Amino acid sequence: MSLADANSAKSTYFIVMAIIAAIAGILFGYDTGVVSGAILFIRDSFHLSPQANGLVVSAVLFGALLGALGSGRLADRFGRKRLLLADSLIFIAGTLLTAVGATIPIIIIGRIIVGIAIGVASYVAPLYISEVSPTRYRGALVSLNQLAITVGILLSYLVDYYFAPLGEWRWMFAVGALPAVIFLLGLLYLPDSPRWFVASGKPAAALQVLQRIYADHALATREFNAIRASVCREKSHQAGSWRLLFSATIRPTLMVGIGLAILQQVTGINTIIYYAPTIFGMAGFQSATTAILATMGVGVVFFLFTIFALPLIDTLGRRPLLLAGLAGMALSLFTLSYVFLPGVHTAGMKWAALAAMLVFIACFAFSLGPIMWLMISEIYPLRVRGLGSSLATASNWGSNMVVALTFLTLVQVCGVSITFALYGAIGMLGMLFIYYYVPETKGVSLEQIEAHLETGLAFSQLGRQQLSHQAALTQEL
Ligand code: BGC
Repeated sequence: MSLADANSAKSTYFIVMAIIAAIAGILFGYDTGVVSGAILFIRDSFHLSPQANGLVVSAVLFGALLGALGSGRLADRFGRKRLLLADSLIFIAGTLLTAVGATIPIIIIGRIIVGIAIGVASYVAPLYISEVSPTRYRGALVSLNQLAITVGILLSYLVDYYFAPLGEWRWMFAVGALPAVIFLLGLLYLPDSPRWFVASGKPAAALQVLQRIYADHALATREFNAIRASVCREKSHQAGSWRLLFSATIRPTLMVGIGLAILQQVTGINTIIYYAPTIFGMAGFQSATTAILATMGVGVVFFLFTIFALPLIDTLGRRPLLLAGLAGMALSLFTLSYVFLPGVHTAGMKWAALAAMLVFIACFAFSLGPIMWLMISEIYPLRVRGLGSSLATASNWGSNMVVALTFLTLVQVCGVSITFALYGAIGMLGMLFIYYYVPETKGVSLEQIEAHLETGLAFSQLGRQQLSHQAALTQEL
């Protein structure tokens, strides 16, 4: 593989493929982030109750849950490219419907349609990227998708900021059609993934794509043979996939994948992404425009810390970053909880709220943000990877929806302070979960993960055990 990797450095084709597919991440980020500014105006124009407000914000998540659940089979049946092409059209249709919707039910339907498109993209785009990337670049290229999500969020904040003084919430949504059209045009240029071509009986097409990726006939043929062998192995196991997923050997990976996916949401990231201007408003930033400006600071910090995280994931490792990130997130949530304690409110408090939110975002950006998506693409054995990661993706969207739906009601019933303290407490429990159950996958090949599961040793010992083994060897030498 290393020879193939070295040679693939001569080709930039797979980078272009990954970048085009990652535009899906921009749409994911834009379409989930844009509502944070738009909701301030929709709420006032339609006199929404907190519950109706929560529904408008979370309609997209309900759609995404459906999209993530359905896309595993569709991607295998119709191919990654055709599904993404159809998806870009769904993005455009849903965006336009939301932008022109005259009533709340129509706006909600438009947002559900956009949500379906996001759910499909959140599963298929990383899958496509991982299938066209040479091994050595796969971690960075999969995380490129998370970077694209943050770019999308930042763009949505900029657009919200631009249109806020005009109160033009419809334009805030409509602008999202632009990246969707660019995505559509880019996809027309892409081939499907070699792995899908092999799995659907088109070996010649697969070989042709591999030759462009590796820029060398012999290496492309070797890669082709490896893909064919693994597709054959997978096919012979497919009948028992669901049962296999819940078998004693694989269950620990399922628990870690779903656990991380849920933890990423129940620590409250999206209360900040979707409701940042609302929270800033509560903290004392008076006008909608100032609140959206403060929110842009959140977007910039998010983007910068995601870039900062990319090289650390493979050097420091997943576990230390996850533990440090969660500790920082819990601390900032408790700070927010303090800032919002009744009676504590003073002029300086809004700056404390801003600082706490920035620290929270920075910590998420180098931990649970990219590492959750990365780990759910690497911990499952090949035979159950599709099922396992689409189940984790769906759990992520499901818990995202529960948090968005309950956030404003929780604030109304218990108050902001208790709500943030609750997320902080969940963050601390999450640290225990990571400490005891999540393995270290840095520098461990996918085959080693599979082999470890077969031994029956605790899944959490993976990586750590290998490291101590290495330490012992070093001492012996
Ligand atoms: C999460 C999303 C979140 C986004 C923010 C993703 O990893 O899954 O729920 O909105 O990060 O960048």
